[in-house]
Amino acid sequence: MNGLDAAFGYAPGKIILMGEHAVVYGQPAIAATLDRGVRVAVSKRTDDGLSGPTFRGTGLGLETGARPDPDGEGPEALRNALAELIAMFGDEVRGLAFVAEGAIPAGSGLGSSAALSVALVRGVFRFLSKSVTDEEVMGYSHRLERVFHGNPSGVDHSVIAHGGLVWFKKGEPDNVVERIQPGRRIRMAVGLSGKHAGTVHAVGALRDRMRRHPKAYQHLFDGIGGLAQEVRAALEEGHLAKVGELMDLNQGYLNALGVSTPTIEKLCHAARDAGALGAKLTGAGGGGAVIALCDDDPRPVLKAFERAGAHAFAAEIGSDPHEVDDVDPVTVRSAAG
Ligand code: PMV
Repeated sequence: MNGLDAAFGYAPGKIILMGEHAVVYGQPAIAATLDRGVRVAVSKRTDDGLSGPTFRGTGLGLETGARPDPDGEGPEALRNALAELIAMFGDEVRGLAFVAEGAIPAGSGLGSSAALSVALVRGVFRFLSKSVTDEEVMGYSHRLERVFHGNPSGVDHSVIAHGGLVWFKKGEPDNVVERIQPGRRIRMAVGLSGKHAGTVHAVGALRDRMRRHPKAYQHLFDGIGGLAQEVRAALEEGHLAKVGELMDLNQGYLNALGVSTPTIEKLCHAARDAGALGAKLTGAGGGGAVIALCDDDPRPVLKAFERAGAHAFAAEIGSDPHEVDDVDPVTVRSAAG
């Protein structure tokens, strides 16, 4: 083992600005990092007779412990993720303790599991004093995301590992991940409609509906892909009013896909009435977060979310994950649970 006693890995949460679900079927999506995320401390365990690493989480849905031994404890997905870390990095990982602190609510479509995956990978690399590229982080964290999410499109961990505002297209074999340079700062109000039923469930239920009406659903996915193209151009021009209108259109498609809920629709309407340029769900839907694009001051939209019964926070999206490293883990209370 090396000389470090402890190291940290940080990764931001994310929003999907355009294209969730359609991205699973090969359409482009636009996603961006949030200015808050998950931090993992990695340290050497004192000799406690355990044969595997330990995990302890605090903050916003991460409150749990886990050990991957055969007679280990904690949620199965976390135990499997720790076992996957051993498979990727070798036996050195067995002697480590991971302590994670979350500043994004879990189960809200804000990328908490992908952020945890990327933060764990970065933390292990730092602890082992090995340098790593964003591409390598993407590869390793994809393996962890598969443990948490089955067969994800890859958009979550790609944007989180890459940082900023990105254009993503699932590829065979390689995904396309391109940085978009927005013409203006992008401010959002984020409202939490409650914990969603899970990405795997939402993606699977949509696949079942699609099997019954393949042509109709293909039209919807094509439409969403077309909107993503237009939004990319509008972002580069700094034309945020247009981005907002196209977000509203994307929300209409998401409702047609069956992944919206009455609460999400209520929050979208409340945000637009309070002056948001556009509003939509982000992530898998069926609950989770609503994002509202704000021209300037997000406070009126935050108040509207709160009046509608949702916890809310302001966020700037697209900041560099390597620069945002100091986030107070208790600044958002989870609406989930
Ligand atoms: O896990 P979430 O809520 O961020 O949703 C991921 C986005 C989906 O397009 C719904 C699924 C995927 O794998 O891309």
